[in-house]
Amino acid sequence: MKVLIVYDSLGGNTEKMAKAVGEGAREVGADVEVKSVKETTLPDLEAADAIILGSPTHFGTMSDGMKKFINDSVKIRGKLVDKLGAAFTSSGHPFGGNETTLLSLLQAMLIHGMLVVGDPLETGGHYGAVAVKTPDEKALDDCRKLGRRVAELAKRLAASGGSTA
Ligand SMILES: Cc1cc2nc3c(=O)[nH]c(=O)nc-3n(C[C@H](O)[C@H](O)[C@H](O)COP(=O)(O)O)c2cc1C
Repeated sequence: MKVLIVYDSLGGNTEKMAKAVGEGAREVGADVEVKSVKETTLPDLEAADAIILGSPTHFGTMSDGMKKFINDSVKIRGKLVDKLGAAFTSSGHPFGGNETTLLSLLQAMLIHGMLVVGDPLETGGHYGAVAVKTPDEKALDDCRKLGRRVAELAKRLAASGGSTA
């Protein structure tokens, strides 16, 4: 069961979150890869059972690097159906558009026909994990929880026969 975490990060904050998401997914025995968006390929997306996207908040939405990658992923439209998806972001301000950024990432995954994982009242964010600037211990813990939850759900989905696609 493969969990792929793809992040963009100009200053390292979102990268720290990505590593914590990866730690959480590894805790439940997933085969985890944490990759910068710059080094991620479309076959990497196809090979994953779950994809967790992280981006800094830029003008209330995902970064241009992440958006370009998502635009490129139109080439594999139909190949990501029923994979699990989730999102995380670091913003500069608590109300600086982190939720709209998460929704922009989740929206792309919904368009791919993916199954988007929400908040089971375990973490602070309704739509994914959020940090303001450098993630503090609470934000890192939320990231680990998100990784664990997605990996657990991916296991359950695989055990029940997996994709309908
Ligand atoms: C081009 C640009 C746009 C940004 N826009 C926002 C914004 O709309 N809202 C916000 O809260 N922070 C904004 N920020 C701040 C970043 O989201 C914040 O510094 C974040 O922690 C950066 O994460 P990173 O270290 O992974 O790049 C912006 C930063 C840049 C460079």
